[in-house]
Amino acid sequence: MGFRKRFLNLCAKPKGFLGRYILRGMNVRHAELADWGISLLPPEPPKEILDIGCGGGRHLHKLLTLYPGASGTGIDYAPVAVKKTARFNREFVRAGRCVSTFGDVSNLTLPAEKFDLVTAFETVYFWPGLISCFKQAARVMRPGGRFLIVHETDGLDPLGRKFEQIIDSMTVYTAAELEEALRAAGFSEVASAHHADHPWIAVIAKK
Ligand SMILES: C[S@@+](CC[C@H](N)C(=O)[O-])C[C@H]1O[C@@H](n2cnc3c(N)ncnc32)[C@H](O)[C@@H]1O
Repeated sequence: MGFRKRFLNLCAKPKGFLGRYILRGMNVRHAELADWGISLLPPEPPKEILDIGCGGGRHLHKLLTLYPGASGTGIDYAPVAVKKTARFNREFVRAGRCVSTFGDVSNLTLPAEKFDLVTAFETVYFWPGLISCFKQAARVMRPGGRFLIVHETDGLDPLGRKFEQIIDSMTVYTAAELEEALRAAGFSEVASAHHADHPWIAVIAKK
């Protein structure tokens, strides 16, 4: 496997020195994308937030800053991401408002009906089975809670399709495919937005 392919494949599950480097980069590169998705959330502030595939932890930090009354949990199946998220959010961890822990979305061991906002930035591409993973997210959500998915590819743009060819475990989805899987997993009020200048999509669903 060439260096470029090996490097890009680490985005699916960062590890080692290169993985830490990638997480630092994603914190910067995905900031505008994540903030756009967050700006689409309804105005009611959440109390318990779960960020699945939290990567470098920057978006959880953003959410905890935006919602001062909320607590947040970041989960990731890559140990380097769990550590990086804890470090990036250290002041919130110290204040008892943030936990970063190992978790695989295909088998969530978190308590049922705990979270009123669940977020997934740039991670659903790697989940093994959309509907079953969305059902896992639904189980840990309170009734009425929101699930936000944000992707920098709309499943149709050439760059997203190219990455799908290079990264072994990656599948890009259109907003319509995500919407359909969310409804099949039991979510309601499913709606999506497309960024005006980029092929970015955000899908919001209600439990
Ligand atoms: C491209 S990175 C995005 C990280 C971060 N959300 C961001 O936007 O910068 C994808 C992240 O999802 C995590 N991930 C992928 N599949 C996962 C799974 N089944 N369960 C938990 N985390 C997963 C990876 O370890 C990685 O940290």
